Amino acid sequence: MAAPDAEIAAQLQADVPHAARIWNYWMGGNDNFAADRAAGDAVAQVYPEIVVMARESRRFLVGAVRFLAAEAGVRQFLDVGTGLPTMQNTHQVAQEVAPDARVVYVDNDPMVLVHAHALLGAGGPATYVHADYHDPEKILAEAARTLDFAQPVAVMFMGVLGYEPDHAVVRSIVSSTMDATAPGSHLVLWDGTNTSPAVVEGAARLAESGGVPYILRSPAEIGRCFDGLVMVEPGLVPITRWRPDDPAAAAIDAYGAVARKL
Ligand SMILES: C[S@@+](CC[C@H](N)C(=O)[O-])C[C@H]1O[C@@H](n2cnc3c(N)ncnc32)[C@H](O)[C@@H]1O
Repeated sequence: MAAPDAEIAAQLQADVPHAARIWNYWMGGNDNFAADRAAGDAVAQVYPEIVVMARESRRFLVGAVRFLAAEAGVRQFLDVGTGLPTMQNTHQVAQEVAPDARVVYVDNDPMVLVHAHALLGAGGPATYVHADYHDPEKILAEAARTLDFAQPVAVMFMGVLGYEPDHAVVRSIVSSTMDATAPGSHLVLWDGTNTSPAVVEGAARLAESGGVPYILRSPAEIGRCFDGLVMVEPGLVPITRWRPDDPAAAAIDAYGAVARKL
């Protein structure tokens, strides 16, 4: 059940940097407050590439969702940690290819909830579940009202799992979600990597600025989230190099992949 508006407004905490709004700021959006911009600027001061990462992450999302809808025939998407709506959101990309594609968004940020209600409404082009990714049971139960888990589902964790410090917990969140899916389902996941001193410094600045700390992982740790699945070409790569528009695209401190469940 939706919380009353006044309660949501209180939860927005405009004076505290929030992950979804900081990300929105780096992506060039307007749905952020001064505290979010201050935290975002503190990171960008030492790691200006964060803005490139935000933009490139959307290119990766668009490429992966198009591949899944157009080439892999997937018609159901579960996008966990969806963020504030910006350009080329999952349902728009999927439904451009397959108008019958069903999309469930999940996030635990109250501002995302407010936007989702305004944008999607009842009977809209996608469904929104307000939940924490630490509770896959709740997410799966609520998503099952929209998605048929007997058919393939693309499960998406796009730059969201670094908020959980324990990598074993991260793996269990991913595996318990994938365990509920049918053969032919896919996992799409990217995350920030500890592959340069500047990005590590940027993560430290984020934590100091009052934002929820983000744990950067090694590419190998990210790769372990895909255990038991079959990688789709080109496998786990810096997201700038996943089916790039520019074959000479520079690497970035963020690795991602798409993989299939047999
Ligand atoms: C960096 S943004 C990424 C947004 C989006 N996935 C994208 O690719 O643009 C991280 C998102 O994860 C959400 N998030 C963080 N912790 C979460 C949790 N425990 N459960 C659900 N969502 C979470 C935040 O609210 C935020 O919207």
